[in-house]
Amino acid sequence: MRIDDYELLAAVQALGVEIQRDTSLAQLTYLGIGGNTDLLRIRQHESIPGLLSLLDQHAVPHKFIGGGSNLLVLDGNLPFVVLQLAKPVDDVVIEGNIAHVDAAADLGHTVTFCAKHNLGGMEGLIGVPGTLGGALRMNAGAYGTQIGSYVREVKLYRAAARTIEILKGDQISFEYRHTSFAPDDMMLAVKVELPSKPYPEILQGIRICNEKRRSSQPLGQKSAGCIFKNPPGASAGRMIDELSLKGFSVGDARVSDRHANFFINAGRASSSDMLALIAGVRERVRVAFGVTLENEVVIWNA
Ligand code: EPU
Repeated sequence: MRIDDYELLAAVQALGVEIQRDTSLAQLTYLGIGGNTDLLRIRQHESIPGLLSLLDQHAVPHKFIGGGSNLLVLDGNLPFVVLQLAKPVDDVVIEGNIAHVDAAADLGHTVTFCAKHNLGGMEGLIGVPGTLGGALRMNAGAYGTQIGSYVREVKLYRAAARTIEILKGDQISFEYRHTSFAPDDMMLAVKVELPSKPYPEILQGIRICNEKRRSSQPLGQKSAGCIFKNPPGASAGRMIDELSLKGFSVGDARVSDRHANFFINAGRASSSDMLALIAGVRERVRVAFGVTLENEVVIWNA
């Protein structure tokens, strides 16, 4: 979608929001799939209520993107603009056992920055790609650690109330890859409280997790991590593997040979290739195991 109304463009820019015209979402997502639209980069949280009321007044549909690491976007001219927070210089600030982290901060950078200040706990999250905001919204987790366990406070834009609010950790519920945030809430910043641990000890934990990940996941290939959530008490990856679906493909969308719950863009996969692969694998698992797998990946198909 291209914003053509010059008054609107000028008003958006007057809020300090940078407009990147006709941006390819394939460049902004780890899967490397997605069409084009105008990207609005927000430099100051305080401009968000004004920006969103402008977009509403002009009936411009919008979506928020974090790091693009868990996202499948449709091809073509997208019917919405995309909003993204620009990363501030001081994206992580430490105060005792509390880290104040901007939602645009890279999750891996946050884990290592805190580690260098002898704050641990998040070692398991080290190889999880994406921003802190994205991780928070879906309660990202790995190797027994979930980000939600450390959250003490979240600053967010609540679209329903059209205001920026602060929620305490106990006002938010964090479950397996699910939170109580509304779908249109926009994460802005978070306070996490982390246990003190000597840096070398944290580094050791980080190395172990990196090694486990390297040996079991297709790093360095275009993917959105696990495509499906694990059903209670089972592993989606193991089920898909048991059906010998590693390497199964639709066009250039392919089930990874290394981890069957990772689907790879092996070249120039289209969004419909990837959607057909997801639907095909889901159906085979349903027929074989009687389980309908739920998406873990976020899909923007409208
Ligand atoms: N397995 C297979 N074949 C496969 C993949 C896995 O047999 O192709 C078996 C493994 O051998 C193991 C079991 O399935 O016995 C579980 O596999 P793994 O330890 O790789 O964990 P997972 O349940 O597949 C989850 C998360 C990952 C996270 C890892 C490590 C989900 C959907 N996935 O994977 O998160 O990195 O544990 O903690 O919860 C993600 O969220 O995108 C993601 C990759």
